[in-house]
Amino acid sequence: MDESAKAKAGEFLALLERRYACKRFSTEHQADADIISYILECGRLSPSSFGLEPWRFAVFSTRPGVKTLGDICFAQEAVHSSSFAVAILVRRAGCFTPDSEFIRARSERFPGGYQVFRPDYQPYHEFLESVQRTEHWARAQSYIAASFMMIGAASIGLDSCPIEGFDEEALLRFLDKDEAQWLPGIVVAFGKRNEEVRQKIREPLENLAEFI
Ligand SMILES: Cc1cc2nc3c(=O)[nH]c(=O)nc-3n(C[C@H](O)[C@H](O)[C@H](O)COP(=O)(O)O)c2cc1C
Repeated sequence: MDESAKAKAGEFLALLERRYACKRFSTEHQADADIISYILECGRLSPSSFGLEPWRFAVFSTRPGVKTLGDICFAQEAVHSSSFAVAILVRRAGCFTPDSEFIRARSERFPGGYQVFRPDYQPYHEFLESVQRTEHWARAQSYIAASFMMIGAASIGLDSCPIEGFDEEALLRFLDKDEAQWLPGIVVAFGKRNEEVRQKIREPLENLAEFI
């Protein structure tokens, strides 16, 4: 690594060190619309399998909205106290069949369109179906968008917490989303911390990595 890359790597690792799962935010802090747009843009730019962008970002940015979402997240303080929170929903299995409207529409954006996309995608979709993993695969995408949003937040000194504990049915009901179409993936709460930064607890790399 050259010196310039080393300096950049150092800065980026410091950013990742600073990010932690904040459990209590300041309820005084209000996020400006441009902060929320920036976080959503981070999510929009995240990669997705086959470039399908299977998600919808539901933004809770008012105090009553955040309160309701907090209740749906089993009264977790990280959500109740957040400035805003994003629930990332993904499409359900039926949307991913190669002939679906969704697959047609998304693939038309790519070079060669649906004609080129379909034969490439179909075998993978068949594989996912054969191992009954289509929705698992779809849901996994939401975690990537969530990561991009959280790292983006850290880059502007905004704290965050990923939240997996929520009542899926209640969330869909509140958002008036059809449960045959949408699956909640993950919620991410954002704000300014109102607590001490939690110390990082991580395994040493030699316990996690192997070189083949
Ligand atoms: C997928 C996922 C789901 C999580 N769900 C919750 C949650 O529901 N409530 C919570 O307080 N923390 C939640 N966390 C935060 C983790 O507990 C936290 O990231 C982990 O302990 C590591 O700590 P750090 O992020 O502060 O480094 C979640 C983290 C991930 C990645």
